Amino acid sequence: MTVNHALTGKKILLGISGGIAAYKCAELTRRLKDQGAEVRIVMTAAAKEFITPLTMQAVSGHEVADNLLDPSAQSSMGHIELGKWADLVLLAPATAHLIARLRAGFGDELLTTLCLATTAPIAVSPAMNMEMYLSPATQENISVLAQRGTLIWGPGKGPQACGDIGPGRMLEPDDLVQRVIAFFNPEKAIFEGINITITAGPTQEALDPVRYISNHSSGKMGFSLAEMAQKMGANVTLISGPVNLPTPTNVNRINIKSALQMHAASIDSLAHCDIFIACAAVADYRAEDIASHKIKKQKEIDDLTIKLVKNPDIIADVASHANRPFCVGFAAETQDVEHYAADKLKRKNLDLIAANNVAMAGQGFNSEQNALTVFSANQRVDISLADKKVVAFQLLEIIRQHYK
Ligand code: C5P
Repeated sequence: MTVNHALTGKKILLGISGGIAAYKCAELTRRLKDQGAEVRIVMTAAAKEFITPLTMQAVSGHEVADNLLDPSAQSSMGHIELGKWADLVLLAPATAHLIARLRAGFGDELLTTLCLATTAPIAVSPAMNMEMYLSPATQENISVLAQRGTLIWGPGKGPQACGDIGPGRMLEPDDLVQRVIAFFNPEKAIFEGINITITAGPTQEALDPVRYISNHSSGKMGFSLAEMAQKMGANVTLISGPVNLPTPTNVNRINIKSALQMHAASIDSLAHCDIFIACAAVADYRAEDIASHKIKKQKEIDDLTIKLVKNPDIIADVASHANRPFCVGFAAETQDVEHYAADKLKRKNLDLIAANNVAMAGQGFNSEQNALTVFSANQRVDISLADKKVVAFQLLEIIRQHYK
């Protein structure tokens, strides 16, 4: 593998559990460091039966963390600090036992506890005997983790330590390093040649030349999606309402104000659009008439009535267009999220809908972080609370899996 420092500045927490493939972790750590990553190691008790903490300390350049209840270890970097420190938690090898504990949400030792505590993405590299891997329990555990947004890398197929030949081998260190690089550098051209239109931000519905109806959408989620989609190789058109954000590099931005303008720009974009993501918080209603001069306060008028009329539903119109792209909508709800999202998916004829519960503190409108539940007609995947760019990457991964 070429060394091009593709991981400079990235902090990777490598969690090692007790499988024979643990012996490959010294090599894996060196290769990650060759690419510029900083690597810290957490080992389970069983992992230490397969490779020594001394080896892992020497190759990583940091003391190995292995004890949840050791006061001196906790005072340097405990499970919360380690969880916060990491940009990515990579569990390799991940045994059937570790995977089962992750699925159940155990906090029985340092590694599982920090997986509960971290908001960084978690990647699991399963490694076990093929029958253990194929057992219904392990299969179910892995699919539940995947639904929660955990990245599942591997296993590979081939001869196993026990003599069996089949799926269950941990991916080779080089393959894992490639996965990590692809994760942090999504410009691996996943959407090469694909045209993606994204609507973002609020709309402003004018009442007169100086007043309007709008909402608190910051546009951050839509702009994060535009940035990540472009890095993943897409040609991105970003139709944005008034927001205070810089245009992501190499993204074609179209500024609009009203829902009608956003509607027109969206329909125009369908001439070259494979995937349409409606992230904008579009005003449902606009003033029937926009006053041509500032509406004056009048002494004798205490009640002012402004007639509002319904705006077109942009994503619904896009989804029923003759030239229909793959359609992804958002649902911002304050209650009964699942029910409303499923209803919207059907009613608007969407392929996917990403629901966020804006009533939960620290996510949604104006926040740096978000958590989503993504529904298709027959599947539900949770993306846990993280920086909007990380969430955008994970949503685009889900879109890629569904987009044919
Ligand atoms: O119906 P509701 O506004 O909750 O639906 C939200 C989804 O529909 C979002 O994807 C939003 O961008 C889109 N939408 C739209 N045009 C509207 C209203 C909502 O595209 N007029």
